[in-house]
Amino acid sequence: MSDTEATAGPLAGKLALVTGGARGIGLEISRQLAALGAEVLIAARHKAKADRAAALLCKEGYAAQGLRLDVAFEDDRQDVYHELRRAHGRLDILINNAAIYLDSKNAATPAIKLASGTPKGTLRTTFETNFFAPIFLTQALLPLLRKSPAGRIVNLSSIQGSLAYHADPASPVYSHKAFAYDASKTALNAFTVQLAEELRDTRIKVNSVHPGWVRTKMGGDVADLSVQEGARTAVIYASLPDDGPTGGFFHLNERLPW
Ligand SMILES: NC(=O)c1ccc[n+]([C@@H]2O[C@H](COP(=O)([O-])OP(=O)(O)OC[C@H]3O[C@@H](n4cnc5c(N)ncnc54)[C@H](OP(=O)(O)O)[C@@H]3O)[C@@H](O)[C@H]2O)c1
Repeated sequence: MSDTEATAGPLAGKLALVTGGARGIGLEISRQLAALGAEVLIAARHKAKADRAAALLCKEGYAAQGLRLDVAFEDDRQDVYHELRRAHGRLDILINNAAIYLDSKNAATPAIKLASGTPKGTLRTTFETNFFAPIFLTQALLPLLRKSPAGRIVNLSSIQGSLAYHADPASPVYSHKAFAYDASKTALNAFTVQLAEELRDTRIKVNSVHPGWVRTKMGGDVADLSVQEGARTAVIYASLPDDGPTGGFFHLNERLPW
């Protein structure tokens, strides 16, 4: 399984899966969950990259394993379900982190085209990865999350998905519109709300989080936060106590408008 024993900590004994976990915010979420004691499955579309990232965490003394998962492929999603069912029989934490940003080079640069001119391919490809993939993966893994004593689903959203912010000239995103990416995160937020309501009487909590503007390939070099800071919000909502919130949209402890 992993090269090291899980660290003792509040997440000791928990199994977490992080999509797009081999770099950027996903890698740091994996590290911070592992530092709290979770065994982390680092999922990436290239197995070698997933294994390298897992080996890095194992070297740091954590429990991690690489998993091949291109979130956009149904076969990969089904393979992961069958592998988890076989090896663990349950999943405690699902972090839907993998995403793409095709509207421009990165979030620091203006979109090449605004809503009226966004190319069909940009919209379709963005929705495939940022919207359909986390939904279909969550649907596939839900039977395993139901087996957990405290299932937690964290959807990496963005304030760029907030309709309230986009309609408010005083908001931080009003003048920064990237239609395909923004709309994919708005739609992901809709999934958070509806799934959380559906699961309200279960032990599973579902939340959307905004990590902040983070220095990664997607965020760009001039972003505000380090990956260490950017991973924090997802980790908080992955490790919520039983009386924690569900169906919300958060940055750190602040509730964000939909
Ligand atoms: N950075 C920010 O400022 C910021 C702000 C708000 C929200 N977010 C959100 O935070 C999350 C992480 O962002 P990030 O900044 O770390 O982005 P990033 O540096 O661009 O990393 C994206 C990750 O997603 C993976 N990925 C993309 N398509 C995939 C697919 N089809 N299957 C599996 N993995 C795939 C990438 O894997 P490869 O290495 O294979 O490409 C990579 O690991 C995203 O959901 C993003 O929307 C980021």
